[in-house]
Amino acid sequence: MVIAYTKQEVKTWRSEHHNAVIGFVPTMGALHKGHLALIEEAQKVSDLVVVSIFVNPLQFNNPSDFEKYPQTLAADIQLLKAAGVELLFAPNAAEMYGSTATLTLDFGSLNQVMEGPNRPGHFSGVGLVVGKLFNIVQPAKAFFGLKDLQQVRVIERMVADLDMPLSIIPCPTIRESNGLALSSRNTRLTEIQRNEAGIIYQVLSDTASKIKKGTSISEALLMANSVLERNQGLITNTEYLQVVNAHSLQPIKYVEEAVEIAICIACFIGEVRLIDNLIFKV
Ligand code: PAF
Repeated sequence: MVIAYTKQEVKTWRSEHHNAVIGFVPTMGALHKGHLALIEEAQKVSDLVVVSIFVNPLQFNNPSDFEKYPQTLAADIQLLKAAGVELLFAPNAAEMYGSTATLTLDFGSLNQVMEGPNRPGHFSGVGLVVGKLFNIVQPAKAFFGLKDLQQVRVIERMVADLDMPLSIIPCPTIRESNGLALSSRNTRLTEIQRNEAGIIYQVLSDTASKIKKGTSISEALLMANSVLERNQGLITNTEYLQVVNAHSLQPIKYVEEAVEIAICIACFIGEVRLIDNLIFKV
């Protein structure tokens, strides 16, 4: 595996492989099985796979979340080598941004729900870094996990609006056996919290199956919120629990308002903020 720390090194490697179909998996490191699943998907449909590791300061609205974000570069490199990745791009912030970046991106209604109001500036930072990475790596396809459903929709919109010449491939969420969605942030949970955090997925699945069986969305959400309240010892705060159109991400009251529905949650276990969602059809 080639490791590039500069944009120039990526450009040189890229020019040596200009005819190859490049599959790209952008990450912030602290790699887990969810990332490896994205890499496997990329390998199925690409000639060569590029992974980036960059903890992007611009997408953290909370400085302590940025400082505490797990950084495990040496272990990540071993995982990527074993997975057969061809190129790792691991720039530092100075290489990535040079002087302070000033461009901001407004994703309109996609940014006015869920993560948007709760993490001001987050999607502008995600859009900027992902746009830069696409320009540097020039992939034919880029792979993103559906755990970050809103991120996927924002990136799809950016690619469509700017006519970026690549396909976005959303990939299913990978879960622990108790249902907890894999996330780099899970390493900050205690073992007990990790074991009990399966309740998040349980609430999402129970709510989805109630809605499928005909319970109204408002009634199903009331029941879900009361389960979350009963588990306040574990889930210390729920920022949102919403049923939305899985494409526009706008909240819906009736199942007829969307072909694909998503139930989405952001909540805290102790100090760790987790998000998850479940996409379903009625
Ligand atoms: O999902 C992530 O890990 C990040 O938001 C991404 C896409 C790598 C951009 O920094």
